Amino acid sequence: MSLPTIDHRDEVYEDPLDLMNEIESLKKEKDATLLAHFYIDGEIQEIADFTGDSLKLARDAVNVKTSTIVFCGVHFMAESTKILSPEKTVLLPDLTAGCSLADSCQYGDLDQFQKQLRAEGRDFETVAYINTSARVKSLCDWIVTSGNAREIIDRVPADKEILFVPDQHLGRYLQEVTGREMILWPGSCMVHEIFSIQDMLRAKKNNPGSLVLAHPECPHPILEVSDIIGGTEKLRQYVMSVKEPGIFLIATEANMIHPLQKSAPQHTYIPVPGIMASSGETCACNRCPHMAKNTLQKVRDCLKYGKPEIEWQPYFDQAKDVLQKSLLQ
Ligand code: 13P
Ligand code: SF4
Repeated sequence: MSLPTIDHRDEVYEDPLDLMNEIESLKKEKDATLLAHFYIDGEIQEIADFTGDSLKLARDAVNVKTSTIVFCGVHFMAESTKILSPEKTVLLPDLTAGCSLADSCQYGDLDQFQKQLRAEGRDFETVAYINTSARVKSLCDWIVTSGNAREIIDRVPADKEILFVPDQHLGRYLQEVTGREMILWPGSCMVHEIFSIQDMLRAKKNNPGSLVLAHPECPHPILEVSDIIGGTEKLRQYVMSVKEPGIFLIATEANMIHPLQKSAPQHTYIPVPGIMASSGETCACNRCPHMAKNTLQKVRDCLKYGKPEIEWQPYFDQAKDVLQKSLLQ
């Protein structure tokens, strides 16, 4: 297994405060709004106009009044934003910010698998996690995020089978909470897949009374020993609801600690580490290397030069119907 690495070698050092000031004035000059996912570096979340989980950001983007949106996140998120707001210029600071989960379900493979199921006489609807490309979305009946998955699955007619793509762990968890059997695609997220259960249990033992908060993209053995399971916004809401100071072990992308700390500073948050590399060295595997491609310099440059931009693609029309009915209605 290759562990994620974060590489900033291509950037010359610039003072973060100067960059933040430059971004603030460019936002005004270019009539732009900055959206940032909770997994983005805290300093970028600080200057964003909207932060949130995938569902909230998709909805916020639709209500943005400026002509340009800079989406600090990964490609499928910026693509969904463009699809839901076609009249806007949507910029992604680094077009190569992908997603291992989205990559694990390719259009051709899904198309072929659906055809095979239909040929076998299976009567099913395809439910896709939002972490998929727009081409894949165009093959699907429903799109879910961690924030609306239960509600959407309830909308799938009871007499239909469900093909759930691409996250096998989220799918397995949803089977459990909804009671619906699903055909699961074997995809997974490189960050959530490699949390170390041993280190997590050790941290729990060393911090009596601590609770484990986990994202449902984590594999079953982690979820089994977790106290609260939810998407990023649900985890944020949960810590806000606990008034007495507590200790929380966080089994999701490490930057999530920034909004948790900001929303509920009375608590202590400990990131669950990823497994060690075979060399025995600690790795940055609880950081998403794709999200980490969003740096202050790239945000400044994309505002300054108006690129890279998400361009409209012919298959966006079909993806638009399914995104709208799933996220906005
Ligand atoms: P949410 O913030 O919607 O829970 O998504 C998590 C994620 O993996 C985004 O890539
Ligand atoms: Fe994709 Fe995982 Fe990164 Fe989210 S954290 S963008 S699911 S690779």
